[in-house]
Amino acid sequence: MNILLLGSGGREHALAWKLNQSPKLSKLYCAPGNAGIAQVAQCADIQVTDHAGILNFCKNNKISYVVIGPEGPLVNGLADELAQAGIGAFGPSAYASQLEGSKGFTKDLCAEFNIPTAAYKRFTEAVSAKAFLDVMSIPVVIKADGLAAGKGVIIAETREQAEQAIDDCFAGSFGDAGHEVVIEAFLEGEEASLFALCDGQTAMLLGTAQDHKRVGDGDTGPNTGGMGAYSPAPVMTQEMINRTMSEIIVPTLAGMHSRGHPFKGILYAGLMLTKNGPELIEYNVRFGDPECQVLMPRLKSDLLELMLASSEGSLLEHDAQWSDECALTVVLAAKGYPASYEKNTIIEGIEAAEKDGTVVFHAGTAKDGENLFAIGGRVLNVTALAKTVKDAQAQAYEGVNAIQWENGFCRKDIGWRAVAREET
Ligand code: AMP
Ligand code: GLY
Repeated sequence: MNILLLGSGGREHALAWKLNQSPKLSKLYCAPGNAGIAQVAQCADIQVTDHAGILNFCKNNKISYVVIGPEGPLVNGLADELAQAGIGAFGPSAYASQLEGSKGFTKDLCAEFNIPTAAYKRFTEAVSAKAFLDVMSIPVVIKADGLAAGKGVIIAETREQAEQAIDDCFAGSFGDAGHEVVIEAFLEGEEASLFALCDGQTAMLLGTAQDHKRVGDGDTGPNTGGMGAYSPAPVMTQEMINRTMSEIIVPTLAGMHSRGHPFKGILYAGLMLTKNGPELIEYNVRFGDPECQVLMPRLKSDLLELMLASSEGSLLEHDAQWSDECALTVVLAAKGYPASYEKNTIIEGIEAAEKDGTVVFHAGTAKDGENLFAIGGRVLNVTALAKTVKDAQAQAYEGVNAIQWENGFCRKDIGWRAVAREET
């Protein structure tokens, strides 16, 4: 079958790399893609926001299934539009995508179905939001309700900061995402992520991961899309995994099903491991980036077959095989990221980095003739698979050292928590 993959990040390169191994695949297309994806798929210059262009491309290229990488098109109803046109899609409907698209929606679902999460309240104007602060302890968390490219969450350390954050949200700092605000209690613990593949009724555990959101070593500096990740996350013991599945994922699926909007696709649970057990911080309805880059190398089964089973509602008949090894990815970003950075700087040495089982997934790259250029903030994901996180870390940094990119930088300590845990 002909498949169209949508997106242009490291996540989509990892998906393209894995989909390309499927015996079910005839031809893989990607829109818009990047220079790495172009090695395994035919790229088309269509943006993921251009739904009409995507539908047209599907008709002209006999595409029977579309794999939607990022959340934007899911929240905007692309899976529904494709279904109406008789084209299959991997990913949830617009209604079900509210699990990522509206924090208030998810909190209400948690309240209704008794899913552990921080205490909260939703507000549509500032006066009552500020009054609610009277009953909240500090720190307190202020969230813009909608999609805000990972920036709509403020951990306020003082009452003044909390009031300022409320004013900022309603004043439009996060655009439309801030027309509603969720105020919630601050949860203490360690963060980890769990990924489940869902078919509306059944959830299949894909794996766990931890990422490094801050730009600087020692988890310092501003937040980014993620500077590195590893899978599995040693902090997610079998007991934590079982509790997350039974207390969070399964009731979410049952709740969505009972509302008449079954959830199909990836449920990516951002968790806080509190002293009471796992609590839900947030859901995403797609793979994480860079978490996907560490899940795909560990998957031995056919990804396309599993995705199709998720869409068809037949996951119970399937089983996924996973490598026992650990994967770790180091993000190379353009100097200046997450603030402004230079574009069109030259990169060399990717082939040398890919020795011995290391894979380099591309994010913001483009090719001009034989030359590879950086055109984005996060640019490469150097990914290694090994017996321990420590070995995977050493192997990934060997790959990083083989790459010549004057304008690039990376964190030097990806995986520190897991390595420390392995050593105790
Ligand atoms: P989100 O965009 O919802 O993932 O939030 C971004 C980050 O804010 C999370 O990864 C957490 O580090 C932090 N965060 C969000 N909600 C809470 C909470 N209730 N308690 C503590 N930290 C939180
Ligand atoms: N790495 C965080 C995300 O994909 O949302």
